[in-house]
Amino acid sequence: MKVVIAGGTSGIGLATAALLAKEDAGVTITGRNPQKMEAALAALPANVKGQCVNGADASEIKAFMAAQSPVDHLVIALSGAKGGGLFKELDLAQLQAGFAEKFFPQLQTLQAALPYMAANGSVTLITSVSARTHAPGTSGLAAINGALELMVPTLAKELRPLRINAVSPGVIDTPWWNFLPEDTRNATFAQYAQAAPVGRIGKPEDIAAVIAQLIQNTFITGQIITVDGGLAL
Ligand SMILES: NC(=O)c1ccc[n+]([C@@H]2O[C@H](COP(=O)([O-])OP(=O)(O)OC[C@H]3O[C@@H](n4cnc5c(N)ncnc54)[C@H](OP(=O)(O)O)[C@@H]3O)[C@@H](O)[C@H]2O)c1
Repeated sequence: MKVVIAGGTSGIGLATAALLAKEDAGVTITGRNPQKMEAALAALPANVKGQCVNGADASEIKAFMAAQSPVDHLVIALSGAKGGGLFKELDLAQLQAGFAEKFFPQLQTLQAALPYMAANGSVTLITSVSARTHAPGTSGLAAINGALELMVPTLAKELRPLRINAVSPGVIDTPWWNFLPEDTRNATFAQYAQAAPVGRIGKPEDIAAVIAQLIQNTFITGQIITVDGGLAL
C-alpha cells in the first residue's frame, strides 16, 4: 500500500505518516521547508520517503505526482493560517491569501494526483470544523474549509470508485498555532479545552487515527468526519 501525505512534515500529516508507517504502508511525505523535512524524516521510520514540493505550484505538484505513480491513498493536509478575524476588520486580501494557501493547493494536489490514483484507493482532505462552529472571527476560515467540504460528496460521485472523504478537526495542538506567542497560545488552548465537551484540545494522533480508518474502510466515501471533541456542538 502506497500513501502520499501532502503536508506530512508537521502536525497532523506527520502523525499520520508515523501511524501508517507502523502499519507497514509505503509512505511519502511532502512539505516546502527543507529543515522541517529533514527533522520529520529523522523522526519517522527509515522506510518513509520525503520530497520538498510546493502544493501551490502546479507544475511542481504535477511532476511530483507523476513520479509517485501508482498511489493507493492520498492525504492532503496543506494549509496556511490566513483569513481569520472579525469580518468588519477582515482584510479581504488576507482571505484571498487564505484561499490561495489552502483551498487551491488542496484541489491542485488532488487534480494532479488523479491520473495516478489506484481506482480502489482513497483521498482524504483535512478541512476544519471552523466551517461549522459559527464562532465570531472565523467566517473567513469557515468559507475556505466549508468550500472544500461542500465539494467532497460531489467529488465522491464524480470520481467513483475512488473514495474521497474529509476529516474536519477541531483545535489540535500542532505547530499551526505557532503564529501565537506561547502564553497567548496556552491561554487559547485552555479556553478551547474548557469549551469542548471532552474537556481537552486534540492531539495530532487523534486525527491520524481517523485518517487511517478512512483509508482502511472501503465502505466510506463522500463523508466529512468531524473530530473536534464536541467543539461544534
Ligand atoms: N491544528 C489545528 O488546530 C487545526 C484545526 C483545524 C484544521 N486544521 C487543518 O489541518 C491541516 C494540517 O494542519 P496542522 O495543524 O497539522 O498544521 P502544520 O503543523 O502547520 O502542518 C502543515 C503541513 O503542511 C505543509 N504545507 C503547508 N502548505 C504547503 C504547501 N503549499 N505545499 C507543501 N506543503 C505545505 C507544511 O510544511 P511546510 O510549511 O514546510 O510547507 C506542514 O508539513 C491543515 O489543513 C489545517 O488547516 C488544523
